[in-house]
Amino acid sequence: MNFEIPTGLTDLLQDFTVAVLRERPDDLVSFAADYFNNLREREDRPGGQKRGVKFDGEPMENGSDDDDILDEPPPKRILDSYKRRRQSVCAERYDPDADDEDDKKVVHPKSDGQRTRLAQAVGNILLFKSLDPEQMQEVLDAMFERKVTPDEHVIDQGDDGDNFYVIDSGTYNIFVKIDGTDKHVGSYDNTGSFGELALMYNTPRAATIVATSDGSLWALDRQTFRRILLKNAYKKRKMFENLLDNVPMLKTLEQYERMKVADALMTQIFEDGEVIIRQGDSADCMYFVEDGVVRIAMKNKNADDPDKELEVTRCKQGDYFGELALVTNNPRAASAYAVGKTKVARLDVHAFERLLGPCKELMKRNIELYEEQIHEIFGSKLQLQETQ
Ligand code: CMP
Ligand code: CMP
Repeated sequence: MNFEIPTGLTDLLQDFTVAVLRERPDDLVSFAADYFNNLREREDRPGGQKRGVKFDGEPMENGSDDDDILDEPPPKRILDSYKRRRQSVCAERYDPDADDEDDKKVVHPKSDGQRTRLAQAVGNILLFKSLDPEQMQEVLDAMFERKVTPDEHVIDQGDDGDNFYVIDSGTYNIFVKIDGTDKHVGSYDNTGSFGELALMYNTPRAATIVATSDGSLWALDRQTFRRILLKNAYKKRKMFENLLDNVPMLKTLEQYERMKVADALMTQIFEDGEVIIRQGDSADCMYFVEDGVVRIAMKNKNADDPDKELEVTRCKQGDYFGELALVTNNPRAASAYAVGKTKVARLDVHAFERLLGPCKELMKRNIELYEEQIHEIFGSKLQLQETQ
C-alpha cells in the first residue's frame, strides 16, 4: 500500500517530540493533550497561524503556505504555558457569569492634573463606554501612570499579561511575530488603548508594543480589569463575533481588527416599518443587520414619477447598508425600513474611517451594482458616484 505523508505532519510531530524530550513529562497522554490544546489556542489567537497539513495537490485551508508553518521555531511559549498551568490554577478561564472573588479595591492617589488628563484619555476608549459612574470611579482610582521613553518595550509578545494600558501621550509601534520575525502591523498616535487581549483570554501577549517617543500611559492592573471591564468587553466581542465573521467584506481585515469593529458597534432596535435611514439625509454611520430584515426603497428623480418610492432590495442578517453615503460623501441614496422587529448594529463614521479603511475599495465596487439595480427597477439611470 502506498502511504502519503502530508506536508506539515513531520514538523508537527517533530516539535512535539522535542517538547517531550525537553520536558520529560511523567504523564505523556496529559502532556500531549495539553500541548495540542495550547497549540490550537495559540493558532486561534489573533495573528495566530494555522498549522495545516497538506496532501500533495490539495489546497491548504486558510490560504496558508507551507513555508509559513515550517519556519516556526519550536513552540517555547507552549512549553512555558504548560509549565505555568501545571504550577498554577488550571488557568483562570473566563466565565462571564461567575462572580470574581478577588474584589479588593485598588486606589492609586492622583493629583488634580493627573485626574483631568486621565479623564480625557479614557473619554474615547470604547471599553469604558458601558461602565456606570460607580464602576468608572473604581477603574479611574485603580489606574496609575507609567512614563515611557523612546524604544522602551511596554509589552513583549509571549509574556504574561499584567496590565491594560490607555495612552495619555506618545507614539507607539505594534509588532507581531510572523514566521519568526517581528512585523510592524500598526501604530498608536497619542490615543487608544492596548493590552486587553492577554487579560481577556488568558493567553500570552499577542503583540509587542514599543514606544517611539517619550510618553505617558495609564495602566490598569489585571484584577481590576477582569473584575470590572472584562464582562462587558467579553460579551460584546462574543456577541458580534459571529455576525462579523460572516460578513464577506470584512474578511480582508485581520481577526484583531474585526474585534475592534465589534467594540465600536452599538445595537439599535427598530419596530416594523420604522425608518432607519431617510433618502437625502446626511450620513454619520453605517449598519450591519443583526437580526430581522431591512427594506431598501428609493425615489429616482430621473424616473417618470420622481415621487414614487420603489423597493430596490432587502438586507438580511449579516448584510450591511448605509455605507454608500460614507464612501461617496453624498447624502443617503435610499431609505431603509425595518420589516418586522429588526436589530441592527450601528458603526459611527469615526470608527468607520478608523477601522474600515481597508474595505473602502470593496465597498466602492457596489456602486455599479447599485446603479444597475436602479436602472432595472426604474428603467432610468441614477448616478451614485463619489463627490470629493
Ligand atoms: P495583548 O495581547 O494583551 O498585548 C499586546 C497588545 O497589542 C494586544 O493585547 C492588543 O491590545 C494590541 N494589538 C494591536 N494590534 C494587534 C494585532 N494586530 N494583533 C494582536 N494584538 C494587537
Ligand atoms: P446610503 O446611501 O448611505 O443609504 C442608503 C443605503 O441603501 C445605501 O447606502 C446602500 O447601502 C443601500 N442600498 C442598497 N441597494 C441600493 C441601491 N440599489 N442604490 C442605492 N443604495 C442602495
